[in-house]
Amino acid sequence: MAVSIAASDSFTPFEFDATLKAISDSSSSKSVPSKFNFSNERSAFTCDSLPTVDFSALVGGDPHQRSKAVHDLATACREWGFFILVNHGVPESLVEAMFRAVKEFFNLPKSEKKQYEAKSASDPIKCGNFNVANTSNQSFTLWRDYLKLYVHPNFHCPHQPQLLRDVVSEYTQITRKLASKLIEAVCEALELNQRYVGEILKMDSSFQMFATNYYPRCPQPDEAIGIPAHTDPGLFTFLIHNGVAGLQIEHDGKWFNADSPRNSILVNAADQLEIFTNGRCKSVKHRAVVNEERERISIVVANGPSGEAVVGPAAALVEKDGGAMYNAMKYEEYVESQLTNTRVGGKSLLEQQMIDIQRQLN
Ligand code: OGA
Ligand code: NI
Repeated sequence: MAVSIAASDSFTPFEFDATLKAISDSSSSKSVPSKFNFSNERSAFTCDSLPTVDFSALVGGDPHQRSKAVHDLATACREWGFFILVNHGVPESLVEAMFRAVKEFFNLPKSEKKQYEAKSASDPIKCGNFNVANTSNQSFTLWRDYLKLYVHPNFHCPHQPQLLRDVVSEYTQITRKLASKLIEAVCEALELNQRYVGEILKMDSSFQMFATNYYPRCPQPDEAIGIPAHTDPGLFTFLIHNGVAGLQIEHDGKWFNADSPRNSILVNAADQLEIFTNGRCKSVKHRAVVNEERERISIVVANGPSGEAVVGPAAALVEKDGGAMYNAMKYEEYVESQLTNTRVGGKSLLEQQMIDIQRQLN
């Protein structure tokens, strides 16, 4: 969710005065305005082997099917860090209503959205554009408008459009349950004690964030980026989109286009899952590229442990591995620090948490 980027005083990560939608609607320009300029190589491999996890098998009563689903999930988290979740039970009508509602939000007049414009990284409701810095410390703006909400344990949502509150509340409640089941299953595959897991991650008060990204059509898609390469904070991120491709994921040092069939959810293991499993699950880098033909909307839910949880590698795995590969950190501090850390191309927060185990053993 957050782009891992280092704090700097030479720019402000938030943009107050304009939404990208307004700029792109009013302009017939054939080039990207200079403040969005970020040259990037969009070409990527086609990916037709993204793993699939059948949620109904995971929670159904058939022990054989369940153990296959648990195995598929653990393998997907280890090998790709991404998978397609099918038979998840989220009603299609809810997904459709959600895209209608977020589109209505992005279409609200600027004056209406102004009250939600981000003032600080930790605002529970924020929208607008996002500025980041490149490796030469020059600021540029991402080619997307966003709305980000903290939805659990406390629910925050704009009052307009009216439909938004109900659908976000329902969708995030369902995805919270799905995420809990996925975590339970991953921990089962790793033979972790569920009571121990519960005490560390405190999922009843899980910190859950909802975000929606609007990527307008872009006249020069190689000269702007929706979201640069990053990993997400949390345990599992859930992503759905309006049928327009744009997400790319890193695998074996190469970039792949990650598409997902209709009515599926694209799920990725996030930073705290990699840390908690001492590196067994991979929080993989991904990015959102833009295109000339069609606007794209994505809806992303970051399912974290409790904000109070201090997440480090699970004790039983540290014992097995002969050492912890990551430092522990309180989850709310991790999120805060990732949100204010805004430089593309530097060491990500996850990389900063890694311990050089070789040095430790010598
Ligand atoms: C994110 C993200 C990708 C997309 O919001 O963290 O990775 O395709 N989004 O919108
Ligand atoms: Ni992301």
